[in-house]
Amino acid sequence: MDVAAADLPERDLYKLLVNTVLPRPIALVTSCDRAGRVNAAPFSFFNAFSHAPPLVVLGIEGREGQEPSKDTLRNIRETGGFVVNLVDRALVPAMTVCGIDFPPEVEELAMAGLDTLPSRAVAAPRIAASPVQFECRERVSLGLGTRHRTLVIGEIVHLWIRDGLVDEQGHVDVDALDLVGRLHGADWYVTTRDRFREPRKTQADLEAGAAAPPEKEP
Ligand SMILES: Cc1cc2nc3c(=O)[nH]c(=O)nc-3n(C[C@H](O)[C@H](O)[C@H](O)COP(=O)(O)O)c2cc1C
Repeated sequence: MDVAAADLPERDLYKLLVNTVLPRPIALVTSCDRAGRVNAAPFSFFNAFSHAPPLVVLGIEGREGQEPSKDTLRNIRETGGFVVNLVDRALVPAMTVCGIDFPPEVEELAMAGLDTLPSRAVAAPRIAASPVQFECRERVSLGLGTRHRTLVIGEIVHLWIRDGLVDEQGHVDVDALDLVGRLHGADWYVTTRDRFREPRKTQADLEAGAAAPPEKEP
C-alpha cells in the first residue's frame, strides 16, 4: 500500500492508524464540571510526552455539530483539571462501560460500579480501583482540523501509585501493575506479560562487536 493521507477517507485513515500504532496506553480520564458532576471516559490517543515538565497528551475527537464535543473536554475547559487513571487488567470491563457515549447527565462511574477518592490538587476525583492516578492541570489545548478535534496537553501535578507497587529504590513492580494497552479493532487489548529484553548498546560496544552487559530490570 502506498497512498497520500489526503486521498484517504477519514474513516479509513482512522482504521489504518489505530491498527498500526499499537499498543496504545489507555487513560481513563475523570473530570468534573463547575457544578461538581463527575465524568469518566477512556482515551487511547494518549501518552506521556515529557517528564520535565511532566506532560501528558489526550486526543479528543469531536462529535458532529457539537461544540465543545465530549463531556471530558467541556469539563477540562470549565475546571482546568482532570485525572488520568491508568487501566490494569481488572479495570478493563468497567473502563469499557465508561466508554459508552452516555448523555452528560449520566454518571459513568456509577454505571460502571467504580468508587472514587478525592484528589489533592484538582477538582476531579480519582478512581480508587486504578493502580496509578495522575492529577493533571491543563497546560494548553490545541483545536485541530475538522470536527473539533482537540489535543489537550496536561501537566501532572500530583502522582498516586498504589502502595506496594514501588519499592524503596523507586523500582516499579510492572508485573503487579498489570497495565493493558489498546490494540487493533474496537475490542482488542494487550497486557504487558509478553516481554523480551534487548540491552542498549554504546558505539564502543558496536565497534568491539560485543553486546552491552545486560541491564537490570528497570
Ligand atoms: C479503549 C477506548 C479508547 C478510546 N479512546 C478515545 C480517544 O483517544 N479519543 C476520543 O475522542 N475518544 C476515545 N474513546 C471514546 C470515548 O471514550 C467515548 O466517546 C466517551 O463516551 C467520551 O465520553 P465523554 O463525552 O463523557 O467525555 C475511546 C473509547 C474506548 C473504549
